[in-house]
Amino acid sequence: MSKVRERIKRKEQNIERRDRMLTHDFSSERATIEEVFDQSTRMVLFSFLKSGVINEVNGVVNAGKESRVYWGKTKAGEDRAVKIYLTSSAEFKKGMLRYIEGDYRFKNVKRDTRALITTWAMKEFKNLEAANNVKIRVPKPIAVERNVVIMEFIGKDGVSAPSLKEQPPENPEKTYKQLLTYMKRLYRKAELVHGDLSEYNLMIWKGKLVMFDMSQSVPTSHPLADFLLNRDITNVNRFFSRQGVEVLPNEEVYKQVTGKNVKS
Ligand SMILES: Nc1ncnc2c1ncn2[C@@H]1O[C@H](COP(=O)(O)OP(=O)(O)OP(=O)(O)O)[C@@H](O)[C@H]1O
Ligand SMILES: [Mg+2]
Repeated sequence: MSKVRERIKRKEQNIERRDRMLTHDFSSERATIEEVFDQSTRMVLFSFLKSGVINEVNGVVNAGKESRVYWGKTKAGEDRAVKIYLTSSAEFKKGMLRYIEGDYRFKNVKRDTRALITTWAMKEFKNLEAANNVKIRVPKPIAVERNVVIMEFIGKDGVSAPSLKEQPPENPEKTYKQLLTYMKRLYRKAELVHGDLSEYNLMIWKGKLVMFDMSQSVPTSHPLADFLLNRDITNVNRFFSRQGVEVLPNEEVYKQVTGKNVKS
């Protein structure tokens, strides 16, 4: 056999083996994987399987508009959240661009849809990392590649911890205080604004407040940062005042978080 033919044969065998592994590892979700994921996403999942970042991908935890969260596991049996960005709607693209433009960390990124989604996933990873570094309880980020983020799973046996929306806090005063501390740390130490903070993106797990969903978070230097922070404050105050907390006025929260007065 010629060298070229040998190489082709080896390549074919590799592809066969890879497909067998994919089919095997994703057996419980085979139909979903095949129907839902494009070739590129399958390859990313395969590379995570190969490098041992995850050992299996189980059922869907949450099927959102732009992303799906799956329950994964490592070989050692640790749970993982596998967040996969899928949508490439024009609307999502426009939305992503607004947050990416003006973020000094992502200068000169390509603007085609695939590149934007890659940046979006990377942005979530970096934001979680930055928040984790300043001791804000978030799902610990573990790996990112293209449109897939692997992180700590918050919950048990594939069931996510309930969001504050699903299960209001038992001690809302304490939770409110904890959240203000997180917002302050995020702003002053990580120099970020969450940008989509509400009862939907907060959970309580093992008695501790957990902040998540950070793909849209922006640096405090971003042109939208102030607008987003004020919106976050409004959402947070609305939720906690409905829980019976005597919340601080919005301007006071702004001052506590940033150390500055609201611009008039
Ligand atoms: N690390 C995690 N551990 C456990 N569950 C998670 C994790 N991350 C996300 N989830 C689950 O998936 C849901 C959606 O996650 P997230 O808010 O990050 O995505 P999203 O893009 O806002 O989705 P949606 O379009 O549904 O709002 C969460 O409410 C939670 O139930
Ligand atoms: Mg969310």
